[in-house]
Amino acid sequence: MSLSAIKVASTPFEGQKPGTSGLRKNVKVFQGEHYTENFVQCTLSAMGEKLPGSTLVVGGDGRFFCKQAVEIIIKMSAANGVRKLIVGQNGVLSTPAVSRLIRKYKTQGGIILTASHNPGGPNGDFGIKFNIANGGPAPEAVTNAIYQLSTTITEYKTCPNLTMDISTTANKSFKVDDHDFEVEIIDSVKDYVEYMKELFDFNAIKQLLTGPDSLKILINAMHGVTGPYVKSIFCQELGAPETSAVNCVPLEDFGGGHPDPNLTYAPELVSEMKKGVHGLGAAFDGDGDRNMILGKNAFFVNPSDSLAVLAANLECMPYFQKTGIKGYARSMPTGAAIDRVANDKGLPIFEVPTGWKFFGNLMDSGQLSLCGEESFGTGSDHIREKDGIWAVLAWLSVVAHQKKSLQEILTAHWSKYGRNFFTRYDYENCESEPANQMIANLNKYVADQSNVGKEYSEGGKTFKVALIDNFGYTDPIDGSVSKNQGIRIIFSDGSRIIFRLSGTGSSGATIRMYIDSYEADQAQHMNDPQDALKPLVEIALKLSQLRELTGRQQPTVIT
Ligand code: G6P
Ligand code: ZN
Repeated sequence: MSLSAIKVASTPFEGQKPGTSGLRKNVKVFQGEHYTENFVQCTLSAMGEKLPGSTLVVGGDGRFFCKQAVEIIIKMSAANGVRKLIVGQNGVLSTPAVSRLIRKYKTQGGIILTASHNPGGPNGDFGIKFNIANGGPAPEAVTNAIYQLSTTITEYKTCPNLTMDISTTANKSFKVDDHDFEVEIIDSVKDYVEYMKELFDFNAIKQLLTGPDSLKILINAMHGVTGPYVKSIFCQELGAPETSAVNCVPLEDFGGGHPDPNLTYAPELVSEMKKGVHGLGAAFDGDGDRNMILGKNAFFVNPSDSLAVLAANLECMPYFQKTGIKGYARSMPTGAAIDRVANDKGLPIFEVPTGWKFFGNLMDSGQLSLCGEESFGTGSDHIREKDGIWAVLAWLSVVAHQKKSLQEILTAHWSKYGRNFFTRYDYENCESEPANQMIANLNKYVADQSNVGKEYSEGGKTFKVALIDNFGYTDPIDGSVSKNQGIRIIFSDGSRIIFRLSGTGSSGATIRMYIDSYEADQAQHMNDPQDALKPLVEIALKLSQLRELTGRQQPTVIT
């Protein structure tokens, strides 16, 4: 069938500026006439000379509006000279799966349709994110180019008569004006599952999950995209009973839930784990890149600790036996537990701003094997996104190797390295003005170096200010500079108070306050982090005037 591209006149929309992880807005915004088309056009145009003849991967977490967006992207890619699209069946692909597909098939990039952990449905959020040829989120140079284009756009190209059924796997070719265009609809899980089997020792994990004294696991997909991946990997491949995998039917509105795997938004997993029946529990976010890991009786594995324990145990996994361990990294606000493992092993540790995109260059240059963030993200250089299911398989590898419970693994780790107590307070959906005011005040505070040396006392403890700044980062590979990545107040004992505004929200301002403090004394290691960190929390709240400025007495979420 011969088809033609047409140009549709349009005008710029304000605020098409990708945040920490793509453009995220309420679904209603994306449904507005030309809104999605404008952003897709700018994303494609920003590829420049790489666009004509390119291959792109397209898929999302299955949330409301994903299918419509896929349809728009197919028509517009055809009109913009893309050679081929690889699309997940029904438009469904987890974020880690997209990263894998881009790398496996060496495409020029991919478009991911997700608002990650934000609620979905007709009143929820939607998002569009572009990943580059290394499989990772586009760096700021690219997202800035997309944004710039969005401010001057006058038209977009589409191919209105091109139709494609995305509900079954197929390969279809089209002729659009004088060029060939192909759409391949692929099985959403197959390539990813095959890859996991290469990275991990599935036999060892299968024995752990099925042998005598088998470990009972409970995996909660929270009605996000991971459901089919979970069923295939944990039940079919690794032999865990079907009852081990719950909420595995992806729903357009995630069943009305907030698909963010933390202690507040995954209460179902927490209460089941409290019953003491299961030895490992896990949950993922909407698009499958975040993970939360719990031990028996809902023993919480803080993401910063999870990262450190995996760092100390990578040698038991076939992938790292093959590649070696090149180095580690964490985002700046992440607890510094992994730094101690790196020092012990004599390996480099990098501290980057919040956002997975900052790990990409280090991985591409062969300096980084494992990295993670306090925001429930863990991953390695097997792909260029964090990977929730990978994290669970990594943990199961450690358990299979050490034959200990999660709590035993953590306490042994703390005995060896000491414990970094860590907590994060989230104040979601604050009014923007007072939140900005608070950050402005803190900026003033850290700019005044006479504050260094000041002492603050609370709950019988005194902390002396050693370093204050607004964190900046120069990428060691491409030299790009990222400023204002978070207020840091670091004390002489290494304890840290950090403030930043979330870059993933879609309305208002979300303030994040992070506290990290090291404890060498083993007798204190089993203390509740909220007790251990109480003095620093109080100092942070007073210093920032957070309660006074925002009117919020309590955070929305405590991690
Ligand atoms: C996404 C990114 C992470 C980042 C997180 C931070 O999940 O992929 O790399 O850590 O957002 O979100 P925030 O809301 O704190 O900006
Ligand atoms: Zn996510």
